[in-house]
Amino acid sequence: MHLYLLLLVLLRGDVTSAITSEAASEERIERVERVMSQLTRQVMLQQLYTEETARSGGDSGIKQVRMQRDGSKPYYTATHTSNAVASIHDHSNHERTCGMGEVVAVLNGLEFRTRHNDYMLKMPSRSSVDYHATQDIPFPDVPPAVLQRTSVDDQITELREWFKAWRDGDTSVRDYRKYFKPNLCYLEGAWTTDVTLDEPFDSDRHQLEADSWFELQEQIRFTSYTGDKNSNENFAYLPTSVMNITEDGMPTFAQWNYRILCHPVSGDLPFSHLKPVDNLAARIVGDDSFDQYVASRAARFSVNPTGKDEQFRWYRLDQLMNQIPGKDNYQGKLNDTGLGQIKLDVFNGQPLNAGFYHRWYKVAGRDAMGEKVASRGFADRNLWVAETTQPRVAPVSVANCKNRWQRRRGQCDTVVKRVSYAIPLEIVYLTPIHTWNPFKLPYRGEHSSTLGKTVRADGRNGGMTPEKAYNGTNSEAYYLTPSQFFSGGEVGRDKADTTRNSVGVLDKSGKVRAVKSSGVRIFLPKIAGLGVLRTRYPIMPMHDEGDPVWKELEALRDVVMDIGRYTKYLRSPPNLASRPITNNTTAPTPFTHTVLMTSPSLPDPVGLHAHTIDLNLEQFRRMRNNRRTLTFDTSEENGHSHSVKVRYDRNTNKFRIIKCDGKPRCFDGHSAVLSEGNKRSVVP
Ligand SMILES: *[C@@H]1O[C@H](CO)[C@@H](O)[C@H](O)[C@H]1NC(C)=O
Ligand SMILES: *[C@@H]1O[C@H](CO)[C@@H](O)[C@H](O)[C@H]1NC(C)=O
Ligand SMILES: *[C@@H]1O[C@H](CO)[C@@H](O)[C@H](O)[C@H]1NC(C)=O
Ligand SMILES: *[C@@H]1O[C@H](CO)[C@@H](O)[C@H](O)[C@H]1NC(C)=O
Ligand SMILES: *[C@@H]1O[C@H](CO)[C@@H](O)[C@H](O)[C@H]1NC(C)=O
Repeated sequence: MHLYLLLLVLLRGDVTSAITSEAASEERIERVERVMSQLTRQVMLQQLYTEETARSGGDSGIKQVRMQRDGSKPYYTATHTSNAVASIHDHSNHERTCGMGEVVAVLNGLEFRTRHNDYMLKMPSRSSVDYHATQDIPFPDVPPAVLQRTSVDDQITELREWFKAWRDGDTSVRDYRKYFKPNLCYLEGAWTTDVTLDEPFDSDRHQLEADSWFELQEQIRFTSYTGDKNSNENFAYLPTSVMNITEDGMPTFAQWNYRILCHPVSGDLPFSHLKPVDNLAARIVGDDSFDQYVASRAARFSVNPTGKDEQFRWYRLDQLMNQIPGKDNYQGKLNDTGLGQIKLDVFNGQPLNAGFYHRWYKVAGRDAMGEKVASRGFADRNLWVAETTQPRVAPVSVANCKNRWQRRRGQCDTVVKRVSYAIPLEIVYLTPIHTWNPFKLPYRGEHSSTLGKTVRADGRNGGMTPEKAYNGTNSEAYYLTPSQFFSGGEVGRDKADTTRNSVGVLDKSGKVRAVKSSGVRIFLPKIAGLGVLRTRYPIMPMHDEGDPVWKELEALRDVVMDIGRYTKYLRSPPNLASRPITNNTTAPTPFTHTVLMTSPSLPDPVGLHAHTIDLNLEQFRRMRNNRRTLTFDTSEENGHSHSVKVRYDRNTNKFRIIKCDGKPRCFDGHSAVLSEGNKRSVVP
């Protein structure tokens, strides 16, 4: 680009100075045009070079989340995971929002950065072929066996049995599969022809704060060069590229864009098919055993029905991704004859519907010489590609010559393709919780509609009195579930969460009902007799897993973590008999720090939130053993932090806030009692 500008400047001087003759200047302009076109082509090739290098450096996948803390070792800081993998979190008071922060991702060698995602449960349209037409993912029904019970307590008892059947994968008495539905949420990206800014996908919490691609680029340039940050996390780095040069030397630009959607998986996908992927760095940071890590937001999973580690080409994840359409939506039907023979589906040998995502394909060999198998890309494990006919997706073309004879005569066919790429993000299980409404609380629609606004009218904030309780529910105060269905509080709260433990909602007769939020959660609060159940299973691949160093490291990790099983790979196996390795779970782990967490605030005036306070060992001891009062700044949430004086209360064995911003109580309603614990562990 620099060259380009330089040339323009030079050119001006050149052209205005001494024009000798018309012919000479015409010749000069022609020469300049030629050079410009060549340079433009070089700019396009530079982009290709950058992508090619990234393609061989790693797979399509998530690369990085925003850093929130530092530490004495590099692994204390964020990778693709921090407290939570890909910064996922809950907004379960929203009807259909899955919390997910900003990430850097790579799709087919193109690196980009998202805004704060908070995507909604939407899927491509089943009926429309319009560009980016979507529809809501249907919520599953409540089992009739539950609705038949008259009392709320009886409904709770019955519904718990259904959750138990789901947890145990037991269809014998209660066939849960109709009422507990897996959805595969995915990240899709493509080069578009869009000239005006296009909000990539729906979120009821975040939008790009720009009116044009130019403005967005300037915002990213500014924040990247200064290190500044948009406090609403509404900037995204979405590159622009030269995609083609026309016959007369003009560049055709393409704009990268991405979106997150979900697809209702056909058939069941039991939890047992999702295997946790270990992450030592995250475990050290969270001070987690493997089981604690699996029960934390930092954990990632892989689809692996057998649970075995083995080599294969296509497997269950391909069957799942193959169900997802590209940008022609579910109606899409495209044959791909690409650069020769028609591509075939690896599962059934029929012509592949290239309008759906796939990575492996077959082609019939020439002269019945068997068949050939290939995967999309050179060495990208996660390059799922779908073709499309949408004119808003930028085309690429090539001359396809059947033989040298055709080439020499310039009689080759032109093949034009438009494609998008996708990677899986997570499996989100929807349960009857989302619609089960035994108190028959009235739903008043969109929170911003006239009716929706009556929910919070007259200073109603979800309190437990008739004056303060919400007047019904809406899309952002989606509280339907009787509190007594769960036996514990919220699980593993994260700072970005907006859910309060219980709120009061007026039913039709004006009675206050204590209910909990009914949107999507990573973990459901504890259910009596069942414990804590996870409903979001992150399965996103990582960019760095495609790096040869990572592959060797992971092999090494497997050997070290399970020496007994992998002894034959060791050069000189340790003498395990003389010094037995035991699982000493009683040994104290090194104390790192303690995290105190405030109770949730009231929803008003600054929105629901909670803060954390980090204590080091010395501060912890001074307060706990020496009865000292210390002052801390809490973490910043919803645009503010508090300066709090904290003391350890020996009667209740709890840390308490005794002054908040110089006042006896925090202005936004955090209670005095702080909860204590590992910052990520499940605290039901
Ligand atoms: C795709 O190929 C199959 C078999 O060759 C053919 O039956 C079908 O009509 C083709 N579909 C399209 C959309 O070209
Ligand atoms: C790219 O430009 C060339 C001319 O340089 C043209 O022949 C080709 O059709 C263009 N490709 C696309 C996909 O527009
Ligand atoms: C609750 O909202 C409904 C609908 O807007 C309204 O008719 C009703 O009077 C409200 N109830 C109270 C107690 O404010
Ligand atoms: C250590 O714990 C693991 C998992 O809980 C178990 O499989 C293994 O047998 C235990 N090893 C010893 C030596 O107790
Ligand atoms: C386990 O750790 C505890 C605490 O350090 C120690 O007292 C005990 O001897 C250890 N047990 C074994 C079997 O190593």
